[in-house]
Amino acid sequence: MSRQPKIAPSLLSADFAHLADEVARVADADWLHVDVMDAHFVPNLTLGLPVAQAIQAVSPVPLDCHLMIENPERWAPGYAEMGARNVTVHAEACTDPRAVARDLRAAGALAGLAIKPGTPLEDYLDVLPDFDTLLVMSVEPGFGGQSFIADVLPKARKARELVDAGHLTLLVEIDGGINADTIEQAAEAGVDMFVAGSAVYGADDPAQAIAALRAQAASAMSG
Ligand code: DX5
Ligand code: ZN
Repeated sequence: MSRQPKIAPSLLSADFAHLADEVARVADADWLHVDVMDAHFVPNLTLGLPVAQAIQAVSPVPLDCHLMIENPERWAPGYAEMGARNVTVHAEACTDPRAVARDLRAAGALAGLAIKPGTPLEDYLDVLPDFDTLLVMSVEPGFGGQSFIADVLPKARKARELVDAGHLTLLVEIDGGINADTIEQAAEAGVDMFVAGSAVYGADDPAQAIAALRAQAASAMSG
């Protein structure tokens, strides 16, 4: 069974003073990952709906909005309504993940569920049929440039098994510390979509970094 690896550069590592230019530099990415942080669910604060909308307006790449915020029930549908392809909320922040997924899909987006490194996948297996993507966090959410936590890979592997066995229909996404040294182990564990911030925007040539990461993941998947 051949899977195609997909790369989602994270704008968190881009130059925020030149967002339109930074978006254009990764035009050949699969999704563009936009990290929304509220200084409550995570200690950091980034951007909200108006800035995401401005990015959406200039991006040739579908947006993948990762909401690291409290009360996602209140805010997530707005990101779907403005045209994001995928909107991911944190399981730990939701009182009713199924209801959020329903609202996101009704607004025309894919619905994503994110779990922090310490959150067991088992706690959310019953709600995953309502979601389109599972985001396995491989760092503590909040900041770019952290080291990859390989201990989360069994969660990606388990999700992959459930998808391959036909029990779930999910894109398996990983976020945090993905680079040339770590992407192969994530690909072998069954990840489809790789978020990479510093590894793409920290490179001299982001387009070339995307191509190199994609090729590395593809060879690990087929190997
Ligand atoms: C962290 C964010 C990530 C971050 C990844 O909370 O969710 O998307 O940008 O950055 P790197 O790839 O540098 O770990
Ligand atoms: Zn993210």
